[in-house]
Amino acid sequence: MNRVLVVGSGAREHSLAWKLMQSSAVDEVMCAPGNPGMAQLGECVSVNASDANAVADLADRLDASLVVIGAEDPLVAGACDAVRSRGRLAFGPSAAAAQLEGSKAWMKEVLLHAGVPTARHATFGATELDAALQYLADSADLCVIKTDGLAAGKGVIVAESMGEARAAVKRYLSGEAFGEAGQTCVIEERMTGPEISFFVLCDGERAFPMACAQDHKRVGDGDTGPNTGGMGAYSPVLFATPDLVEHLMVTAIVPTLAEMRARGAEFRGILYCGVMLTPNGPKILEYNVRFGDPECEILMRRLESDLYAHLSESAAGALQTPIEFGDNCAVGVVLAADGYPATPVKGDVITGIEHANEIDEVVVFHGGTAANPKGVTTNGGRVLVVTATAPDIPAAQAKAYAAAKLIDWPGMHYRLDIGSQAVV
Ligand code: AMP
Ligand code: GLY
Repeated sequence: MNRVLVVGSGAREHSLAWKLMQSSAVDEVMCAPGNPGMAQLGECVSVNASDANAVADLADRLDASLVVIGAEDPLVAGACDAVRSRGRLAFGPSAAAAQLEGSKAWMKEVLLHAGVPTARHATFGATELDAALQYLADSADLCVIKTDGLAAGKGVIVAESMGEARAAVKRYLSGEAFGEAGQTCVIEERMTGPEISFFVLCDGERAFPMACAQDHKRVGDGDTGPNTGGMGAYSPVLFATPDLVEHLMVTAIVPTLAEMRARGAEFRGILYCGVMLTPNGPKILEYNVRFGDPECEILMRRLESDLYAHLSESAAGALQTPIEFGDNCAVGVVLAADGYPATPVKGDVITGIEHANEIDEVVVFHGGTAANPKGVTTNGGRVLVVTATAPDIPAAQAKAYAAAKLIDWPGMHYRLDIGSQAVV
């Protein structure tokens, strides 16, 4: 009996469970805590995903042969270390390696030592407000202010003015904005250019480039309004040529992995590299230590090789199976709750998911949903991700939007331009 445990409750984890179920090596997928979409694939059991020992206890109880951790919080809390200490395979980095996402200050230090092209930066702690304000005053360019610690994708302010930058630094260092996570902050040079998300599968030694996608981080059409966890994505990205991928492997990924190994933090799992193609060449914006959400959902729609083979080989430190994607294109549109990203409204009944799923090559993944006697209800900011595949991006886009139109609840909103950069 080969049972895989997927830890998480977002659309990313739903898509991983969905793809794992297609593997002939997998008998059963269980999800913790899961969501109503994942419950259609396998049993969902409750767990406090941020409690590493609770995750390992559950893996023991279910006798899971592989534990797949979707989100950054359990990884930073050491969920993979705990599972591995029980002699089980865990897909994802150790807590030490997850610092790459858990601390932006640490990540920047690694990049600097590894000689990886990235934005100029300085790090300041809670007692260094004067020095931080002086650094801003001395910077010729506009600045970006980031929390050192995790802030659910919302800890970055791309300041439009010196006044905004100064106000952000004050609110971060005082703890007013993000508590402890922001009391150490990174101030960096503001760069410009198109962004891509580049995913690399790693086993501690080897690194296999997987695919590129483009996310849409702002809440509104035309990249307006506040940053979110991501409002939609598409893949492949035409300008992410094989030459660019090779360049990123040589200038960024390989030196970063070597530097991490030298620091006793070898990286296993999926390395998510946020890249900006600046006028001075590609530069690394950030690393994340897990799949992107919603990028993962569209990659799972395009992946043709066996996800279980990839994840279990990464977990075992023995990457081998070649990663294969279809020639098709995928677009994923996030349907968000009223009030997202600030304060999403929960508890509204959702209609039309089944009709959307009936469209050929459309799959709707659940994120913030809950099962209720009245039906499936909204239970978070990013509620559903409607994905569609087709031979080209415009056709995938048209299909995803046709499916999105069939779904409804009060206050639902989504961007209308997901994938449009690829079409211009
Ligand atoms: P991060 O969470 O670090 O990826 O930042 C979120 C978003 O903020 C990125 O996707 C970029 O759009 C923007 N951003 C972050 N750092 C910079 C920078 N140094 N220059 C310009 N934009 C940035
Ligand atoms: N889509 C951006 C992220 O997962 O961080």
